[in-house]
Amino acid sequence: MTWHEVWRRHCGDLADHFPPPEPGRRLSVLDLGIGPGVSGIGILERRPDAWLVGLDFSAEMLRHARRYLALAGCHFPLIHGDVTHLPFASDSFDVLTHHSFLYLLADRDAGLREMYRVLRPGGHYVMLEPNRLGSVTVVPKMKGPFQFRLSMLLWRVVSTGFGQFERTELLDLLQKHGFVCERVDETLDGLGFIAVVRKPLVADPLRPNL
Ligand SMILES: C[S@@+](CC[C@H](N)C(=O)[O-])C[C@H]1O[C@@H](n2cnc3c(N)ncnc32)[C@H](O)[C@@H]1O
Repeated sequence: MTWHEVWRRHCGDLADHFPPPEPGRRLSVLDLGIGPGVSGIGILERRPDAWLVGLDFSAEMLRHARRYLALAGCHFPLIHGDVTHLPFASDSFDVLTHHSFLYLLADRDAGLREMYRVLRPGGHYVMLEPNRLGSVTVVPKMKGPFQFRLSMLLWRVVSTGFGQFERTELLDLLQKHGFVCERVDETLDGLGFIAVVRKPLVADPLRPNL
């Protein structure tokens, strides 16, 4: 359903919020809940300099991802793992990113605790998540192929069931876990948010032990 150019482009929009390339250094990026791989492919189209790793806890999704990566002629490691127990050392990544992931987590606190751990101090965390106050009535007017509008409609329905965010709710959750907010912008005609936060260089000593 998401294997089309418009979804890929929206995934690529996440990469516009990554820090600029540094000479002689590749940006390490972890795409959480990579699903069928479309988000990673879209991100690499925009930021071919990134060293991207995709992670998902569904073996079946990773099988789809392998197939789509091959179709796109794209290569990056796919890791089978759960965000609540990430198989990476602390402070490993320059950037964490995900498209449509946080709202799905049964234990968001456990997931965010692990994400905070593996992000390096000063690192960026960029996400696209569904906005509870968005209106499904915009979907028929959205630009793009029929398949894109259908995927938006399904995204809306599925995320209504699992849980969408209001801006302050998303911010409060991220701040509670120690992230510092840079921006939260509406996207997809108000159906979603792109949020950009950072792990502070020095942890807040008053940060609760979650
Ligand atoms: C909506 S899909 C993401 C789609 C993908 N980002 C894209 O745009 O192509 C969400 C993914 O998160 C994965 N997921 C959900 N909970 C997870 C967890 N606790 N750990 C790792 N992956 C998880 C699901 O298996 C699913 O593939």
